[in-house]
Amino acid sequence: MSASWILSANSWMHTPTGFEAGANNQYHPLNWLDIIFNPSFPYRLLHMVTAAYLTTAFVVGGVAAWYLRKQRHLHHAKIMLGMAMIMAIFVAPIQIFLGDLHGLNTLQHQPRKVAAIEALWETQRGAALTFFALPNVDQEKNNYAIEIPKLGSLILTHRWDGEVKGLKEWPKAERPPVTAVFFAFRIMVGIGLLMVLTGVFAIILNVRKRLFETKWFQSWCMMMTPMGFIAVLSGWMVTEMGRQPFVVYDLLRTSEAISPVLGENVLLSLISFVLVYAFVFGAGIYYILKLIKEGPKVTEKEEKHLYGEHGVQHPVLLSDVFKGLKNGRGVHA
Ligand code: HEM
Repeated sequence: MSASWILSANSWMHTPTGFEAGANNQYHPLNWLDIIFNPSFPYRLLHMVTAAYLTTAFVVGGVAAWYLRKQRHLHHAKIMLGMAMIMAIFVAPIQIFLGDLHGLNTLQHQPRKVAAIEALWETQRGAALTFFALPNVDQEKNNYAIEIPKLGSLILTHRWDGEVKGLKEWPKAERPPVTAVFFAFRIMVGIGLLMVLTGVFAIILNVRKRLFETKWFQSWCMMMTPMGFIAVLSGWMVTEMGRQPFVVYDLLRTSEAISPVLGENVLLSLISFVLVYAFVFGAGIYYILKLIKEGPKVTEKEEKHLYGEHGVQHPVLLSDVFKGLKNGRGVHA
């Protein structure tokens, strides 16, 4: 519920609907349903909530891999890794699909953002997909570009010769900061592909019955632990820097939205925020790391319930984890 409201408010600033402009450029609501369910809201909600689940799954998977490497809490670690891999196999590809839909919606409502994402300067039919480049904002071109012809149009318009608008369509003062948006997008998508690759590795190792034993895969999962957070931050950089120089797309410039508040007051509240958050996050991270270090505590009674009377039977395959989840126990005993 909380994600819905905050994302609805945020999405309205990207794709404003359901209002009228009154005197003094003040906007008045006309239809609250149009405001809440504005065009980018469903895509942003699905993409962000899925991002949060994936981020969590990769943290759980990373901790599990660390336990397996240390030969601690083996039983729980296998279930944790199994559940994380079920997410990587099924949910990471869904996230790419949702990202694609989100991008199509952005192209429709915020074409300048997409031009910055692609560092596309000229309006083109059959636009190339730029894997890597150093956007040169002064000369309005890309240096050292590595491109695949026509793929950009195919992904963005789902047609080989679809037209994609370039940044030169808009005056310089209306363009987002291209370089940051371009790279942030590639980091997010790159991590999405690594998440899918993790799922592919998991399927192959599962077929070989080596999912819970393979050392390099444990290192890989440990390396993937913070990736969800990095993807989420990069995604938000794309979204928020990509709408610049507007705070409400095409209606209110960021420079016009500045409140008449003294710089000193802003600095003071910023310092307070930094201090409070440093404390809250610091305490939270300390506590989470402590919990991870201790690992799960299981009483004798719980152990019997989890593992059955005849001793521990570790999961070997992902299907064991599935069955264990289905019958409400830690494992198929
Ligand atoms: C791999 C394929 C992906 C594609 C094609 C994709 C596409 C997009 C697009 C186009 C936006 C900007 C939308 C806008 O501002 O209008 C965006 C934002 C975002 N992305 Fe992705 N994304 C992908 C993967 C991921 C992954 C793996 C995560 C995190 C686990 C993620 C998290 C986010 C977040 C948090 C935002 C900002 C909120 C939002 O606008 O939805 N994305 N993504």
